[in-house]
Amino acid sequence: MKKVGLLFGMEQTFPPSLVEEINRRDQGVSAEFVKIGGITLESLFEYDVILDRISQDVPFYRAMLKVAALNGVRVVSNPFWSSADDKFFNYAVANKAGIPVPKTVLLPSKSNPPDTTAESFRNLMFPLNWQEIFDHVGFPSYLKPFDGGGWKNVYKVDSIEEFFKAYNETADIVMTLQEGIDFTEYYRCYCIGKKYVHVMPYEPRNAHHLRYKADFAPTPEMLRTLEALCIKICTMLGYDFNTVEFAVRDGIPYAIDYMNPAPDAERTSVQEENFQWVLNTMATYLIDLAKKGSSIPSEYHWSNFIGVGGPQKKK
Ligand SMILES: Nc1ncnc2c1ncn2[C@@H]1O[C@H](COP(=O)(O)OP(=O)(O)O)[C@@H](O)[C@H]1O
Ligand SMILES: [Mg+2]
Repeated sequence: MKKVGLLFGMEQTFPPSLVEEINRRDQGVSAEFVKIGGITLESLFEYDVILDRISQDVPFYRAMLKVAALNGVRVVSNPFWSSADDKFFNYAVANKAGIPVPKTVLLPSKSNPPDTTAESFRNLMFPLNWQEIFDHVGFPSYLKPFDGGGWKNVYKVDSIEEFFKAYNETADIVMTLQEGIDFTEYYRCYCIGKKYVHVMPYEPRNAHHLRYKADFAPTPEMLRTLEALCIKICTMLGYDFNTVEFAVRDGIPYAIDYMNPAPDAERTSVQEENFQWVLNTMATYLIDLAKKGSSIPSEYHWSNFIGVGGPQKKK
């Protein structure tokens, strides 16, 4: 029997429903909530797959998951990449690959990070050439963290005055200033296993509970374009689970937000139809992955020293 473990936090609906669904299918794969305590260097893990829904908020879990991966557990999403990614790098990768993204500038944080002084910033041009930055991005624009989620510290700014008012509130958070895309349609797309895509019309200008009730829908051509972009983005960056958001302006989908390795999947939030899709598709994906069994990763420098390709053997 292969085993899937779920690691999660405050979520109410998705993790228990997923455990139930995997067990209900009875395909030689069982699922349960992960239970762990202190982790030793020798810890082995009984799971073939762990679905991680929470390590972005719990550093202990992130550290545990890296060791689980070392020992052959297939962790969804990859904890090494989740430790390294940021939105600005992601925009830069997509931009290089010819995927439309808004013009974006990375800004030094407003205040110094802890334990640094002005001397730590001798390499930084001061003052910045703000006008050049504003000319590049234009207004309205979005001031938002280079690494973050849940709309936290996201500001829409319409003028230089509004920009500085917002920037002055951002303390030591590293921010980006991004061209605002004046969109006619907006799509939020689940992408699972770099192959299954579910496109959801999404109206971010609506109140929270009405965002999945949009009065637009993709044409068949737009649907194909979005599906292909999602797969390309998640494959390039290595996300096994993600939501990819696009704002459409003049028929062109601009990739806005695609660093969501534990995307919202609450029934009450994403609505019943989307919930059923994410639940069923994730169950299929995790069962397929678990059937392949645990596997020591082969893509890291340290891989060469530990015997790759098979499950961890107990001594
Ligand atoms: N460049 C942009 N153009 C238009 N709208 C944007 C842009 N950036 C962000 N937004 C709006 O702000 C919301 C939150 O920004 P997002 O980048 O998705 O951050 P988060 O990761 O916190 O969700 C988006 O859903 C969208 O409605
Ligand atoms: Mg978002």
